[in-house]
Amino acid sequence: MTEQDVKLNFETMEAGDFKAFVKAMADYITEYLENIRDRQVVPSVKPGYLRPLVPEQAPQQSEPWTAVMADIERVVMSGVTHWHSPRFHAYFLTASSYPAIVADMLSGAIACIGFSWIGSPVCTELEVIMLDWLGQMLGLPEQFLARSGGEAGGVIQGTASESTLVALLGAKARIMQRVKEQHPEWTDSDILSKLVAYCSKQAHSSVERAGLFGGVKMRCLKTDNKRRLRGDIFQEAMDEDINKGLIPFYVVATLGTTASCTFDALDELGDVCLSRNVWLHVDAAYAGSAFICSEYRYLMKGVEKADSFNFNPHKWMLVNFDCSAMWLKQPRWVVDTYYMDPLYLKHDQQGLAPDFRHWQIPAGRRFRALKLWFVLRMYGVENLQKYIRKQIALAHLFEKLCTSDNRFEIIEEVTMGLVCFRLKGSNEINEELLRRINGRGKIHLVPSKIEDVYFLRLAICSRFSEESDSHISWEEVKISADEALAQK
Ligand SMILES: Cc1ncc(COP(=O)(O)O)c(C=O)c1O
Repeated sequence: MTEQDVKLNFETMEAGDFKAFVKAMADYITEYLENIRDRQVVPSVKPGYLRPLVPEQAPQQSEPWTAVMADIERVVMSGVTHWHSPRFHAYFLTASSYPAIVADMLSGAIACIGFSWIGSPVCTELEVIMLDWLGQMLGLPEQFLARSGGEAGGVIQGTASESTLVALLGAKARIMQRVKEQHPEWTDSDILSKLVAYCSKQAHSSVERAGLFGGVKMRCLKTDNKRRLRGDIFQEAMDEDINKGLIPFYVVATLGTTASCTFDALDELGDVCLSRNVWLHVDAAYAGSAFICSEYRYLMKGVEKADSFNFNPHKWMLVNFDCSAMWLKQPRWVVDTYYMDPLYLKHDQQGLAPDFRHWQIPAGRRFRALKLWFVLRMYGVENLQKYIRKQIALAHLFEKLCTSDNRFEIIEEVTMGLVCFRLKGSNEINEELLRRINGRGKIHLVPSKIEDVYFLRLAICSRFSEESDSHISWEEVKISADEALAQK
C-alpha cells in the first residue's frame, strides 16, 4: 500500500474540496433562506418516512461531497419544518442570521473546548467581554457585569432551562450555608426537606423541572388578572410556608411568559426578596432582547434587586441556537459549591480569569461568544433595535387586522411580537379553527390555554417577515374561521 493510498483512506476531503463544498453550501443556504416563504411551512410526512429514503447501513466507502449535497433536498428538506419562514408563527422564534452562521463555521474549525481559561483563552475572554457588551445594551445594572471589577459577570449557557437550574443550585447553596450557621444541629436532609421555591403558574415548564432536578419543592403561584405574579401574592405564600416550618429560598420572575407574554411584577417581587433574603432569578428568555430598546425597559423595573438574570439571544437577537445569556451577581454560590478541580484541568493562571465549567452543568462548552461578536458587530445595536421594533410593529398590525373583525377577540395585551387571539365563543370552535388553519398548510400556529380558555398564539418568528406577510397570515386565519363557523 502506498503512502497515497493510506492518505486517501483516512483523508476523504482535501482542502480544495472543502472550499468547493463550502461555496456550494453557501449558495444553497442563501437560496434556501431567501426563498423560504415559498416552501410548505410544515412538511406533510408521517413518522418513519425517512427510513426508506436512506440506506440501511453506513457506506463502507467514502462518498464525494457532491453526492451528499445532491441528497439534501430529497432527504433533509423533505422533513424540515421551516422555522424561519414568515408563515411560521408557532412557539417563540429561534434566531438565525448570516453572521451567526458564519461564526459557527469558524467555531467549528477552531473546535476547542472552553472548559478552562487555558482550554482556549479567547473562548473565555471573548465571552466575558461579550456578556459585558450585551449587559450594557440591555441596561443591566453594573453590579451584574464583569467590568464592574467584582466577582459578578455573565456566562453563555445552552438554554434558559439550564440557567434557571444553575440559579436554583446557587440559591440552594446559599440558603444551606445560612441555615447551617443558624441550626448547626440540623442535617443536610433536614434542611433540604424544608426548602421551598416559587414561580408563577405561567412560568415555563422548565422552572418546575428545575425544582425536580434540584430536589426541592416548587410552588406555582396564582397571578393577578393580568397574569402577573405580584409581590403580595408571593409574600402571602411565603408566610403560609414559614408558618408550616418551611424555608423559602428562591423565586423565578418571568418577563415575557411563554403562554401569553405577560410580565411578573419584578419590582414588587424584588422588594419582598430583599426583605426575606430570597434569591430572585429573572427568566426573560424571549422578551429580554427587547430591553435593548429603552422604551421597553419599564418592564424590567426592579432588575437591580435580582440575583441572576437570563435571556436568550438565540431567540430574538439573531444569534443562532444555542446562546442563552446569564448574569450572576455572586457566582461564588455556584462556582465554589460545586467545585471539582481534577489535575488534568488545572493550569497556572487559575483564579485570574473564570474557568467557565464551574458556572454551568456540563464540563465541555463550545466557542459560542464568536456568534455574539459577529452579530453585534455586523448588525450594530441600532439595526438590532430596528429589527425588534419592526417585529413588534408586525404583531400590532396582525392585532389590528384581528380587532377589525368582530368575530375575534384579543385575549392578552400585545406588548412584544406575540398576538393571543380567539374566535368569540367556545373552546371547541377555536380548536376547530386551529385544526383548519394548520390543516390548510399555509401557516403554522400553536394554541395555549389559560384558566380553561383556549386561544391561538401568533408569534412573529422570521427575520424576513414583512407587512404583506401579516396580511397573508390574517387571510389564512379569516378563511379558516369562515370554514369553521360555516361547518358549525
Ligand atoms: C419564558 C421562557 N422560559 C424558558 C424557556 C425555555 O427556553 P430554553 O429552550 O432556552 O430552555 C422558554 C421557551 O420558550 C420561555 O418562553
